[in-house]
Amino acid sequence: MKQQTAYYELDGTDRATRRANRTPRTRPSKNRKSAESLEAASGRGSGRRLLVDKHRATTRILQVAYPFLAEGGIGAEGTYIGSDVFSGGSFVYDPWVLYQDRVITNPNVLLAGVIGSGKSSTAKALITRSLALGHKAYVPCDPKGEWTAVAEAIGGATIKLGPGLPTRLNPLDAGRQPVTVDADEWTRIVWSRRRALLGTLAESTLGRPLIAVEHTALDLALETASAQVPTPTIPDVVVALFAPDSRHAERAGLKTASLVDDGREVAHAIRRLVHGDLSGMFDGPSTTDFDPALPMVTLDSSWLSSGGDDQALRLTLACASSWLEAAVADPAGGNRFIVYDEGWRVMRDPALLRRMQEQWKLSRAWGVSNILIVHRLSDLAAVGDHGSEARALAEGLLADCSTRIMLRQESDQLARTASLLGLTDVEIATIAKLPKGRALWRLPSRSFVVQLIRHAREVELFDTDARM
Ligand SMILES: Nc1ncnc2c1ncn2[C@@H]1O[C@H](COP(=O)(O)OP(=O)(O)OP(=O)(O)O)[C@@H](O)[C@H]1O
Ligand SMILES: [Mg+2]
Repeated sequence: MKQQTAYYELDGTDRATRRANRTPRTRPSKNRKSAESLEAASGRGSGRRLLVDKHRATTRILQVAYPFLAEGGIGAEGTYIGSDVFSGGSFVYDPWVLYQDRVITNPNVLLAGVIGSGKSSTAKALITRSLALGHKAYVPCDPKGEWTAVAEAIGGATIKLGPGLPTRLNPLDAGRQPVTVDADEWTRIVWSRRRALLGTLAESTLGRPLIAVEHTALDLALETASAQVPTPTIPDVVVALFAPDSRHAERAGLKTASLVDDGREVAHAIRRLVHGDLSGMFDGPSTTDFDPALPMVTLDSSWLSSGGDDQALRLTLACASSWLEAAVADPAGGNRFIVYDEGWRVMRDPALLRRMQEQWKLSRAWGVSNILIVHRLSDLAAVGDHGSEARALAEGLLADCSTRIMLRQESDQLARTASLLGLTDVEIATIAKLPKGRALWRLPSRSFVVQLIRHAREVELFDTDARM
């Protein structure tokens, strides 16, 4: 009989053996028969519940047999995010897999949504779940300190930065030299990273681009500082700006006195990190090392941002992200996410924006996926007038994000969002009404509405309402 065959196959023993192994009943129950028939009816315990032959097939075949169970989403490989609202299937995402499959042209992600719409939760879910695939994550920009608990929970580390705290980072640290980069090229890379950071700090503080003579003064100051010690610090550069080395000045065909004048404003601007309110954070050798084996490293700048000084926060972010980016600038370092949570606070500054864009261009070569979190796309437009360099930089950053995850947007933002992302009317109507944790995942060729599904542990870990 078919049923008996199924029974035998499932259990691996025949009926006689099972009967022999059964523990003898000392007092047969009156209700034994009815209990057995109940068990059989409920399909529990009797071993007769499988009434059909076993069948095994690939999902490719099964999705034809059961079309309504076919997976939604962009591919089968990646990190589980939640459910595709329209197909009901699971939605998985992995920027590196999609990049290799040529679905996206770069692995960077822009996440936008109104306050409390679930932006950080979406990023945290994507990242913590991706660790199982061997990916790592670094969070240089965490002004609310909300990634600290996440890093702790998954065995990562947090570096707390703020005036009066013991940790100090030298943003001019060279980082680890990748094995694929030769000594000369490495010297050039380190030089240009240091120089770019110093330029950013000066421009950000002065609130204007540097003029030609100031660039020269800064170049020579960095040259002087680098000639004195293998790893210069910001105070070394400030000293060299106030008191330039006459030999370096002569070599550049300049008089020392005029070089002092040329670099005076730049020196005062950068001095804020040495003697001003930000002293003690970036003005000496690093007191902590970067451990590349950790699954996650975050830089908690909440001590600083509680004061609400956005300029101080921006300088801190420039230094902190430069230090972290130097540490992860290794193409052999595996797949890594770099998260700029509350990124809109950085983006108001064209100098930082420029640095960020240069960094993003390089990061593709390093195997890094940058995740930029903003409230709305008009944050990108707010950096400058139409046609300005800053505006072009911000829009370039958007173009450099192949994946755009749009959570709910305010109604006054819909038209701009639609024009910047080229959304259809249906997509715009969807964004306007998205509930918490549900997002439009916009990829170059397709878009999906995805509900983030969180585990109970994640709900607890990602909660940012507690402080309310
Ligand atoms: N899918 C979801 N369902 C229900 N609640 C959620 C969901 N996703 C996030 N939340 C809750 O909403 C709150 C805000 O989430 P989150 O911090 O991720 O939002 P945010 O957009 O990053 O906010 P902010 O703009 O303040 O940075 C959190 O407490 C989180 O637990
Ligand atoms: Mg957030």
